[in-house]
Amino acid sequence: MSESNIKNIFQNGNWYHTFEYQNIITKGTFDYREIIKTLGIPSLKNLDVLDVGCSDGFFSKYFIEKLNASSVTGVDINKYDGDIAFEVLKSYEKNFKDKYEEHNDFLSLRDDYYSLGLKDSNKFNFVKKVFDIKGMKFENGSIYDLIPFGQYDFVFCGSLFEHLRDPITAFEQLLFATKNFCIVDISNTFRSYRIGNKPYLEYTNSGGNFFKYSDNSVIQIMKNVGFKDVKVLSSYKIKIEKYGYKIPHTVFVGYK
Ligand SMILES: C[S@@+](CC[C@H](N)C(=O)[O-])C[C@H]1O[C@@H](n2cnc3c(N)ncnc32)[C@H](O)[C@@H]1O
Repeated sequence: MSESNIKNIFQNGNWYHTFEYQNIITKGTFDYREIIKTLGIPSLKNLDVLDVGCSDGFFSKYFIEKLNASSVTGVDINKYDGDIAFEVLKSYEKNFKDKYEEHNDFLSLRDDYYSLGLKDSNKFNFVKKVFDIKGMKFENGSIYDLIPFGQYDFVFCGSLFEHLRDPITAFEQLLFATKNFCIVDISNTFRSYRIGNKPYLEYTNSGGNFFKYSDNSVIQIMKNVGFKDVKVLSSYKIKIEKYGYKIPHTVFVGYK
């Protein structure tokens, strides 16, 4: 593996999360390096983990390196072929296709990926390779069909529900994949006490983002699909690095 190829991808690639490699800090959309410690995710010692919507593997890496998970299987719908990696309404498809093509750094960094033995710009596989993380495995797939991947002690799903048109099926699939407990982190949530504690969802009408969730809506859905002892684990705000403003998140936990 050549250092200059690795550095080029960290320096000039498109990154969702902020990663540090030697003296390079990637220009990620979100910098979770400190915030991740405040989410309330417990020790994962000796646990097998499923990370649904794993993206570049920032959380998966943390689960193994800092929380001592035995293994993490990351599932993502992204095939890293330049196509849109979100469900979008037909009427918005063209906008999202253009946006996604801009995001694919494979065209400009192809030689660097090839030199590392990587056949596409899948950052999860890149991170696993460069940081030499044993026990991290990528699977292409969707939250709507987790059955092929089996069951895991702990299931995590971060910042994916806001992009789903069918959250109820998705929560049910998370339940099927969970042996012990499941943590779901959702952005742009709002507090239910402001609306008389009703379990409301707000339809956001933007093609690739479908709903804003009240805390109680998530709790109700999780309970109704069969999770037990569902509660809010934590809440936080994180800055979108590109725009400079912060968005709220709520982190939920449910047990099998
Ligand atoms: C906003 S990113 C969140 C990344 C990371 N989990 C986090 O918490 O920061 C959402 C990820 O979910 C993936 N995704 C979108 N729809 C999906 C689906 N139906 N099933 C699995 N992954 C999906 C996207 O490709 C993307 O990598």
